[in-house]
Amino acid sequence: MLLFGVIGGVSTAIGLVWYYWTPKFWEVGYMPQQPEAGFSHLLHAGKLGMDCRYCHTHVEESPEANIPNVATCYGCHATGRVGLPPEQDARVEFVRVAYEQNESIPWRRVHKLPDYVRNFPHNVHINAGVSCYSCHGMIPNQAVVHQVEPLSMAWCLDCHRNPEPHLVPRDKVTDLFWVRNQLSLPGNPKQEGSATVAGTPGGAELLHDLQGHPLHLLPENCGACHY
Ligand code: HEC
Ligand code: HEC
Ligand code: HEC
Ligand code: HEC
Ligand code: HEC
Repeated sequence: MLLFGVIGGVSTAIGLVWYYWTPKFWEVGYMPQQPEAGFSHLLHAGKLGMDCRYCHTHVEESPEANIPNVATCYGCHATGRVGLPPEQDARVEFVRVAYEQNESIPWRRVHKLPDYVRNFPHNVHINAGVSCYSCHGMIPNQAVVHQVEPLSMAWCLDCHRNPEPHLVPRDKVTDLFWVRNQLSLPGNPKQEGSATVAGTPGGAELLHDLQGHPLHLLPENCGACHY
Protein backbone atom coordinates (compact mmCIF):
# COMPACT_ATOMS: atom_id res chain seq x y z
CA MET A 1 0.00 0.00 0.00
CA LEU A 2 2.90 2.28 0.82
CA LEU A 3 4.30 1.63 -2.65
CA PHE A 4 0.99 2.46 -4.34
CA GLY A 5 0.69 5.56 -2.16
CA VAL A 6 4.13 6.79 -3.21
CA ILE A 7 3.51 6.08 -6.90
CA GLY A 8 0.13 7.82 -6.74
CA GLY A 9 1.62 10.85 -4.99
CA VAL A 10 4.48 11.22 -7.45
CA SER A 11 2.16 10.87 -10.46
CA THR A 12 -0.16 13.54 -9.12
CA ALA A 13 2.78 15.88 -8.51
CA ILE A 14 4.07 15.35 -12.06
CA GLY A 15 0.58 15.89 -13.46
CA LEU A 16 0.13 19.15 -11.57
CA VAL A 17 3.51 20.53 -12.66
CA TRP A 18 2.87 19.41 -16.24
CA TYR A 19 -0.43 21.22 -16.36
CA TYR A 20 0.14 24.29 -14.24
CA TRP A 21 3.83 25.07 -14.78
CA THR A 22 3.12 26.60 -18.17
CA PRO A 23 2.92 30.12 -19.55
CA LYS A 24 -0.69 29.39 -20.47
CA PHE A 25 -1.58 29.02 -16.83
CA TRP A 26 0.70 31.65 -15.27
CA GLU A 27 0.87 34.39 -17.86
CA VAL A 28 -2.49 34.60 -19.60
CA GLY A 29 -4.49 37.27 -17.89
CA TYR A 30 -1.40 39.14 -16.60
CA MET A 31 -2.65 42.65 -15.86
CA PRO A 32 -0.23 44.84 -13.88
CA GLN A 33 -1.60 47.83 -12.01
CA GLN A 34 -0.93 50.88 -14.20
CA PRO A 35 0.28 54.14 -12.58
CA GLU A 36 -2.63 56.04 -14.15
CA ALA A 37 -5.66 53.79 -14.07
CA GLY A 38 -7.79 56.47 -15.78
CA PHE A 39 -6.32 55.91 -19.24
CA SER A 40 -8.29 53.37 -21.21
CA HIS A 41 -8.12 51.67 -24.59
CA LEU A 42 -11.83 51.03 -24.26
CA LEU A 43 -12.39 54.78 -24.57
CA HIS A 44 -9.60 55.83 -26.95
CA ALA A 45 -9.38 52.83 -29.33
CA GLY A 46 -12.95 51.59 -28.75
CA LYS A 47 -15.44 54.43 -28.32
CA LEU A 48 -13.40 57.15 -30.02
CA GLY A 49 -12.23 54.66 -32.68
CA MET A 50 -8.64 55.94 -32.76
CA ASP A 51 -6.26 53.93 -34.93
CA CYS A 52 -3.56 52.08 -32.98
CA ARG A 53 -0.88 53.78 -35.07
CA TYR A 54 -1.88 57.23 -33.86
CA CYS A 55 -0.21 56.34 -30.56
CA HIS A 56 1.89 53.27 -31.36
CA THR A 57 3.54 55.17 -34.17
CA HIS A 58 6.40 52.80 -35.01
CA VAL A 59 4.65 49.44 -35.16
CA GLU A 60 5.06 49.20 -38.92
CA GLU A 61 8.75 50.13 -39.08
CA SER A 62 10.32 49.01 -35.85
CA PRO A 63 11.14 45.53 -34.53
CA GLU A 64 9.96 46.84 -31.15
CA ALA A 65 6.55 48.42 -30.67
CA ASN A 66 6.54 51.78 -28.90
CA ILE A 67 4.48 53.29 -26.12
CA PRO A 68 3.41 56.89 -26.91
CA ASN A 69 5.12 59.78 -25.15
CA VAL A 70 3.23 62.43 -23.22
CA ALA A 71 3.34 64.89 -26.12
CA THR A 72 1.05 62.54 -28.07
CA CYS A 73 -1.51 62.69 -25.27
CA TYR A 74 -1.08 66.40 -24.78
CA GLY A 75 -1.78 67.02 -28.46
CA CYS A 76 -5.41 66.32 -27.63
CA HIS A 77 -5.51 67.04 -23.94
CA ALA A 78 -3.92 70.49 -24.15
CA THR A 79 -6.18 73.27 -22.94
CA GLY A 80 -9.53 73.13 -24.57
CA ARG A 81 -8.81 70.61 -27.35
CA VAL A 82 -11.03 67.82 -26.08
CA GLY A 83 -13.32 67.87 -23.07
CA LEU A 84 -12.47 70.26 -20.26
CA PRO A 85 -9.08 71.97 -20.06
CA PRO A 86 -6.72 69.82 -17.97
CA GLU A 87 -6.59 72.44 -15.21
CA GLN A 88 -10.25 71.77 -14.57
CA ASP A 89 -10.34 68.09 -15.35
CA ALA A 90 -8.90 65.95 -12.58
CA ARG A 91 -9.02 62.86 -14.77
CA VAL A 92 -6.32 64.13 -17.14
CA GLU A 93 -4.41 66.26 -14.63
CA PHE A 94 -1.52 63.74 -14.73
CA VAL A 95 -1.08 64.37 -18.46
CA ARG A 96 -0.61 68.10 -17.95
CA VAL A 97 1.71 67.65 -14.97
CA ALA A 98 3.91 65.16 -16.81
CA TYR A 99 4.00 67.33 -19.94
CA GLU A 100 4.89 70.55 -18.11
CA GLN A 101 7.58 68.86 -16.03
CA ASN A 102 8.93 67.11 -19.10
CA GLU A 103 8.55 63.71 -17.50
CA SER A 104 7.25 60.49 -18.90
CA ILE A 105 4.44 58.44 -17.44
CA PRO A 106 5.90 55.26 -15.89
CA TRP A 107 3.56 52.75 -17.59
CA ARG A 108 4.12 49.16 -16.55
CA ARG A 109 5.02 46.75 -19.29
CA VAL A 110 2.48 43.99 -19.94
CA HIS A 111 3.94 41.80 -22.71
CA LYS A 112 7.54 40.71 -22.30
CA LEU A 113 9.45 37.86 -23.90
CA PRO A 114 12.38 36.39 -21.96
CA ASP A 115 15.83 37.77 -22.88
CA TYR A 116 16.96 34.49 -24.40
CA VAL A 117 14.39 35.01 -27.15
CA ARG A 118 16.70 37.23 -29.13
CA ASN A 119 14.59 37.84 -32.19
CA PHE A 120 10.96 38.80 -32.36
CA PRO A 121 10.60 41.36 -35.14
CA HIS A 122 7.27 42.93 -34.26
CA ASN A 123 7.03 44.89 -37.53
CA VAL A 124 7.61 41.86 -39.79
CA HIS A 125 4.48 40.27 -38.38
CA ILE A 126 2.34 43.33 -38.90
CA ASN A 127 3.58 43.83 -42.45
CA ALA A 128 2.81 40.19 -43.24
CA GLY A 129 -0.82 40.84 -42.33
CA VAL A 130 -1.01 39.35 -38.83
CA SER A 131 -3.42 41.56 -36.93
CA CYS A 132 -2.83 42.92 -33.43
CA TYR A 133 -5.97 40.92 -32.65
CA SER A 134 -4.22 37.56 -33.12
CA CYS A 135 -1.60 38.30 -30.48
CA HIS A 136 -3.13 40.90 -28.15
CA GLY A 137 -6.84 40.13 -28.38
CA MET A 138 -9.68 42.63 -28.55
CA ILE A 139 -7.77 45.64 -27.22
CA PRO A 140 -10.55 48.18 -28.00
CA ASN A 141 -12.71 46.32 -25.48
CA GLN A 142 -10.06 46.26 -22.76
CA ALA A 143 -10.33 49.00 -20.16
CA VAL A 144 -6.98 47.82 -18.81
CA VAL A 145 -4.67 46.02 -21.25
CA HIS A 146 -3.85 42.47 -20.21
CA GLN A 147 -2.14 39.48 -21.78
CA VAL A 148 -4.56 37.13 -23.55
CA GLU A 149 -2.08 34.79 -25.28
CA PRO A 150 0.58 32.65 -23.55
CA LEU A 151 3.52 34.04 -25.62
CA SER A 152 5.07 30.59 -25.22
CA MET A 153 7.30 28.84 -27.72
CA ALA A 154 4.47 26.49 -28.70
CA TRP A 155 2.31 29.51 -29.39
CA CYS A 156 4.88 31.00 -31.80
CA LEU A 157 5.40 27.66 -33.54
CA ASP A 158 1.70 26.84 -33.87
CA CYS A 159 1.22 29.93 -35.95
CA HIS A 160 4.43 29.52 -37.94
CA ARG A 161 3.28 26.03 -38.95
CA ASN A 162 -0.13 27.28 -40.02
CA PRO A 163 -0.40 31.07 -40.35
CA GLU A 164 -3.37 31.05 -42.74
CA PRO A 165 -6.12 31.55 -40.17
CA HIS A 166 -4.40 34.68 -38.87
CA LEU A 167 -3.77 36.58 -42.07
CA VAL A 168 -5.83 39.61 -42.96
CA PRO A 169 -5.47 42.24 -45.68
CA ARG A 170 -2.64 44.62 -44.87
CA ASP A 171 -4.90 47.67 -44.45
CA LYS A 172 -7.10 45.88 -41.91
CA VAL A 173 -4.35 44.90 -39.48
CA THR A 174 -5.28 47.63 -37.00
CA ASP A 175 -9.03 47.47 -37.63
CA LEU A 176 -9.72 45.01 -34.85
CA PHE A 177 -13.51 45.18 -35.13
CA TRP A 178 -13.31 44.15 -38.79
CA VAL A 179 -10.79 41.42 -38.04
CA ARG A 180 -12.87 39.96 -35.25
CA ASN A 181 -15.91 39.80 -37.51
CA GLN A 182 -13.98 38.13 -40.32
CA LEU A 183 -12.42 35.56 -38.05
CA SER A 184 -15.80 34.57 -36.68
CA LEU A 185 -17.35 33.97 -40.10
CA PRO A 186 -18.10 30.32 -40.84
CA GLY A 187 -15.50 28.93 -43.25
CA ASN A 188 -12.57 30.72 -41.77
CA PRO A 189 -9.94 28.07 -40.99
CA LYS A 190 -9.58 29.49 -37.49
CA GLN A 191 -12.94 27.89 -36.85
CA GLU A 192 -12.08 24.35 -35.99
CA GLY A 193 -13.39 21.54 -38.11
CA SER A 194 -13.84 23.51 -41.31
CA ALA A 195 -11.28 22.81 -43.97
CA THR A 196 -12.37 25.17 -46.72
CA VAL A 197 -11.44 28.78 -46.83
CA ALA A 198 -12.91 29.66 -50.18
CA GLY A 199 -16.65 29.87 -50.68
CA THR A 200 -17.50 32.31 -47.92
CA PRO A 201 -17.08 36.02 -48.49
CA GLY A 202 -14.56 36.49 -45.70
CA GLY A 203 -12.72 33.24 -46.32
CA ALA A 204 -12.23 33.85 -50.03
CA GLU A 205 -10.86 37.26 -49.36
CA LEU A 206 -8.46 36.01 -46.74
CA LEU A 207 -7.24 33.18 -48.94
CA HIS A 208 -6.70 35.55 -51.82
CA ASP A 209 -4.75 37.81 -49.54
CA LEU A 210 -2.65 34.93 -48.27
CA GLN A 211 -1.66 33.95 -51.79
CA GLY A 212 -0.58 37.49 -52.46
CA HIS A 213 1.91 37.44 -49.55
CA PRO A 214 5.46 36.34 -50.10
CA LEU A 215 5.81 34.51 -46.78
CA HIS A 216 9.51 34.08 -47.23
CA LEU A 217 10.38 32.95 -43.72
CA LEU A 218 8.29 31.30 -41.03
CA PRO A 219 11.13 30.00 -38.93
CA GLU A 220 11.02 26.80 -36.88
CA ASN A 221 14.80 26.47 -36.49
CA CYS A 222 16.15 27.32 -33.05
CA GLY A 223 18.63 29.97 -34.15
CA ALA A 224 15.98 32.18 -35.73
CA CYS A 225 14.53 33.02 -32.32
CA HIS A 226 17.32 32.07 -29.87
CA TYR A 227 21.02 32.76 -29.45
C1 HEC B 1 -4.51 57.21 -27.22
C2 HEC B 1 -3.32 56.45 -27.47
C3 HEC B 1 -3.41 54.95 -27.74
C4 HEC B 1 -4.14 54.31 -28.73
C5 HEC B 1 -5.07 54.93 -29.76
C6 HEC B 1 -3.83 52.91 -28.60
N1 HEC B 1 -2.95 52.70 -27.56
FE1 HEC B 1 -2.19 50.93 -26.94
N2 HEC B 1 -1.25 51.86 -25.36
C7 HEC B 1 -1.26 53.22 -25.11
C8 HEC B 1 -0.59 53.48 -23.85
C9 HEC B 1 -0.41 54.85 -23.19
C10 HEC B 1 -0.17 52.23 -23.34
C11 HEC B 1 0.58 51.95 -22.01
C12 HEC B 1 -0.41 51.85 -20.89
C13 HEC B 1 -1.21 50.59 -20.88
O1 HEC B 1 -0.62 49.49 -20.95
O2 HEC B 1 -2.46 50.68 -20.83
C14 HEC B 1 -0.60 51.23 -24.32
C15 HEC B 1 -0.37 49.86 -24.20
C16 HEC B 1 -0.72 48.91 -25.17
C17 HEC B 1 -0.37 47.51 -25.11
C18 HEC B 1 0.38 46.83 -23.98
C19 HEC B 1 1.86 47.07 -24.12
C20 HEC B 1 2.67 46.32 -23.10
O3 HEC B 1 3.06 46.93 -22.10
O4 HEC B 1 2.90 45.12 -23.30
C21 HEC B 1 -0.86 46.92 -26.25
C22 HEC B 1 -0.74 45.46 -26.64
C23 HEC B 1 -1.54 47.95 -26.99
N3 HEC B 1 -1.42 49.15 -26.33
C24 HEC B 1 -2.18 47.73 -28.20
C25 HEC B 1 -2.97 48.68 -28.85
C26 HEC B 1 -3.80 48.39 -30.00
C27 HEC B 1 -3.93 47.02 -30.66
C28 HEC B 1 -4.41 49.55 -30.35
C29 HEC B 1 -5.41 49.79 -31.48
C30 HEC B 1 -6.61 48.98 -31.45
C31 HEC B 1 -3.97 50.58 -29.41
N4 HEC B 1 -3.10 50.00 -28.52
C32 HEC B 1 -4.35 51.92 -29.44
C33 HEC B 1 -1.83 54.19 -25.92
C34 HEC B 1 -2.67 53.94 -27.00
C1 HEC C 1 -7.08 62.04 -30.57
C2 HEC C 1 -7.24 62.72 -29.33
C3 HEC C 1 -6.77 62.06 -28.04
C4 HEC C 1 -5.51 61.59 -27.72
C5 HEC C 1 -4.27 61.56 -28.62
C6 HEC C 1 -5.55 61.16 -26.35
N1 HEC C 1 -6.82 61.34 -25.84
FE1 HEC C 1 -7.40 60.96 -23.91
N2 HEC C 1 -9.32 61.49 -24.41
C7 HEC C 1 -9.71 62.00 -25.62
C8 HEC C 1 -11.15 62.30 -25.57
C9 HEC C 1 -12.00 62.88 -26.70
C10 HEC C 1 -11.57 61.96 -24.24
C11 HEC C 1 -12.97 62.09 -23.65
C12 HEC C 1 -13.07 63.48 -23.06
C13 HEC C 1 -14.23 63.67 -22.15
O1 HEC C 1 -14.88 62.70 -21.76
O2 HEC C 1 -14.44 64.83 -21.76
C14 HEC C 1 -10.38 61.47 -23.55
C15 HEC C 1 -10.38 61.08 -22.21
C16 HEC C 1 -9.25 60.73 -21.48
C17 HEC C 1 -9.22 60.42 -20.06
C18 HEC C 1 -10.44 60.37 -19.16
C19 HEC C 1 -10.95 58.96 -19.26
C20 HEC C 1 -12.29 58.65 -18.70
O3 HEC C 1 -12.62 57.45 -18.80
O4 HEC C 1 -13.00 59.51 -18.24
C21 HEC C 1 -7.93 60.11 -19.73
C22 HEC C 1 -7.39 59.71 -18.37
C23 HEC C 1 -7.14 60.26 -20.94
N3 HEC C 1 -7.96 60.63 -21.99
C24 HEC C 1 -5.78 60.05 -21.01
C25 HEC C 1 -5.03 60.07 -22.19
C26 HEC C 1 -3.64 59.69 -22.29
C27 HEC C 1 -2.77 59.21 -21.13
C28 HEC C 1 -3.28 59.83 -23.60
C29 HEC C 1 -1.94 59.51 -24.23
C30 HEC C 1 -1.48 58.14 -24.12
C31 HEC C 1 -4.45 60.32 -24.32
N4 HEC C 1 -5.49 60.44 -23.44
C32 HEC C 1 -4.47 60.62 -25.67
C33 HEC C 1 -8.92 62.21 -26.73
C34 HEC C 1 -7.58 61.89 -26.84
C1 HEC D 1 2.70 38.02 -33.92
C2 HEC D 1 2.20 38.51 -32.68
C3 HEC D 1 2.00 40.01 -32.48
C4 HEC D 1 1.30 40.89 -33.28
C5 HEC D 1 0.62 40.62 -34.61
C6 HEC D 1 1.33 42.17 -32.61
N1 HEC D 1 2.04 42.06 -31.44
FE1 HEC D 1 2.47 43.55 -30.15
N2 HEC D 1 3.69 42.30 -29.08
C7 HEC D 1 3.83 40.94 -29.31
C8 HEC D 1 4.82 40.39 -28.39
C9 HEC D 1 5.27 38.92 -28.33
C10 HEC D 1 5.27 41.47 -27.59
C11 HEC D 1 6.38 41.44 -26.53
C12 HEC D 1 7.68 41.70 -27.28
C13 HEC D 1 8.96 41.61 -26.47
O1 HEC D 1 8.93 41.37 -25.27
O2 HEC D 1 10.02 41.83 -27.07
C14 HEC D 1 4.52 42.65 -28.04
C15 HEC D 1 4.65 43.92 -27.51
C16 HEC D 1 3.85 45.01 -27.85
C17 HEC D 1 3.87 46.30 -27.18
C18 HEC D 1 4.73 46.67 -25.98
C19 HEC D 1 6.04 47.23 -26.40
C20 HEC D 1 6.84 47.76 -25.22
O3 HEC D 1 8.03 48.03 -25.44
O4 HEC D 1 6.33 47.91 -24.11
C21 HEC D 1 2.94 47.10 -27.81
C22 HEC D 1 2.61 48.55 -27.50
C23 HEC D 1 2.35 46.31 -28.87
N3 HEC D 1 2.93 45.05 -28.86
C24 HEC D 1 1.36 46.78 -29.74
C25 HEC D 1 0.92 46.10 -30.86
C26 HEC D 1 0.04 46.67 -31.88
C27 HEC D 1 -0.55 48.07 -31.85
C28 HEC D 1 -0.13 45.69 -32.82
C29 HEC D 1 -0.91 45.79 -34.12
C30 HEC D 1 -0.57 46.90 -35.01
C31 HEC D 1 0.62 44.52 -32.39
N4 HEC D 1 1.24 44.81 -31.20
C32 HEC D 1 0.70 43.31 -33.09
C33 HEC D 1 3.18 40.21 -30.28
C34 HEC D 1 2.45 40.76 -31.32
C1 HEC E 1 -0.34 34.60 -35.30
C2 HEC E 1 0.79 34.20 -36.11
C3 HEC E 1 2.21 34.34 -35.58
C4 HEC E 1 2.63 34.23 -34.29
C5 HEC E 1 1.82 33.99 -33.02
C6 HEC E 1 4.08 34.39 -34.32
N1 HEC E 1 4.50 34.58 -35.60
FE1 HEC E 1 6.44 34.88 -36.19
N2 HEC E 1 5.82 35.04 -38.14
C7 HEC E 1 4.49 34.97 -38.57
C8 HEC E 1 4.44 35.20 -40.02
C9 HEC E 1 3.19 35.21 -40.89
C10 HEC E 1 5.80 35.40 -40.44
C11 HEC E 1 6.32 35.60 -41.87
C12 HEC E 1 6.61 37.03 -42.13
C13 HEC E 1 7.30 37.20 -43.46
O1 HEC E 1 8.32 36.56 -43.66
O2 HEC E 1 6.82 38.00 -44.25
C14 HEC E 1 6.63 35.29 -39.22
C15 HEC E 1 8.01 35.44 -39.22
C16 HEC E 1 8.81 35.39 -38.09
C17 HEC E 1 10.25 35.55 -38.08
C18 HEC E 1 11.12 35.77 -39.32
C19 HEC E 1 11.26 37.24 -39.56
C20 HEC E 1 11.93 37.59 -40.85
O3 HEC E 1 12.89 38.32 -40.80
O4 HEC E 1 11.46 37.13 -41.91
C21 HEC E 1 10.68 35.43 -36.77
C22 HEC E 1 12.10 35.51 -36.24
C23 HEC E 1 9.49 35.20 -35.95
N3 HEC E 1 8.40 35.19 -36.79
C24 HEC E 1 9.50 35.03 -34.58
C25 HEC E 1 8.37 34.80 -33.79
C26 HEC E 1 8.38 34.58 -32.35
C27 HEC E 1 9.62 34.58 -31.47
C28 HEC E 1 7.08 34.40 -31.98
C29 HEC E 1 6.52 34.14 -30.60
C30 HEC E 1 6.89 35.04 -29.54
C31 HEC E 1 6.26 34.51 -33.19
N4 HEC E 1 7.06 34.74 -34.26
C32 HEC E 1 4.88 34.36 -33.19
C33 HEC E 1 3.39 34.72 -37.80
C34 HEC E 1 3.39 34.55 -36.40
C1 HEC F 1 9.46 30.95 -33.49
C2 HEC F 1 10.43 31.20 -32.47
C3 HEC F 1 11.09 30.05 -31.75
C4 HEC F 1 11.76 28.98 -32.31
C5 HEC F 1 11.92 28.68 -33.79
C6 HEC F 1 12.29 28.22 -31.20
N1 HEC F 1 11.94 28.80 -30.02
FE1 HEC F 1 12.48 28.13 -28.13
N2 HEC F 1 11.35 29.60 -27.29
C7 HEC F 1 10.67 30.58 -27.98
C8 HEC F 1 9.96 31.42 -27.04
C9 HEC F 1 9.11 32.63 -27.37
C10 HEC F 1 10.29 30.92 -25.74
C11 HEC F 1 9.84 31.51 -24.40
C12 HEC F 1 8.69 30.75 -23.83
C13 HEC F 1 8.25 31.28 -22.48
O1 HEC F 1 8.29 32.48 -22.25
O2 HEC F 1 7.87 30.46 -21.68
C14 HEC F 1 11.16 29.77 -25.94
C15 HEC F 1 11.68 28.99 -24.91
C16 HEC F 1 12.62 28.00 -25.08
C17 HEC F 1 13.28 27.27 -24.00
C18 HEC F 1 13.07 27.52 -22.52
C19 HEC F 1 12.18 26.47 -21.91
C20 HEC F 1 10.77 26.63 -22.24
O3 HEC F 1 10.19 25.73 -22.91
O4 HEC F 1 10.13 27.64 -21.86
C21 HEC F 1 14.11 26.36 -24.58
C22 HEC F 1 15.03 25.36 -23.85
C23 HEC F 1 13.99 26.50 -26.02
N3 HEC F 1 13.06 27.51 -26.29
C24 HEC F 1 14.67 25.74 -26.95
C25 HEC F 1 14.44 25.78 -28.33
C26 HEC F 1 15.02 24.83 -29.29
C27 HEC F 1 15.97 23.71 -28.93
C28 HEC F 1 14.55 25.19 -30.53
C29 HEC F 1 14.81 24.51 -31.88
C30 HEC F 1 14.36 23.14 -31.97
C31 HEC F 1 13.70 26.36 -30.34
N4 HEC F 1 13.65 26.68 -28.99
C32 HEC F 1 13.05 27.05 -31.38
C33 HEC F 1 10.63 30.75 -29.36
C34 HEC F 1 11.20 29.91 -30.30
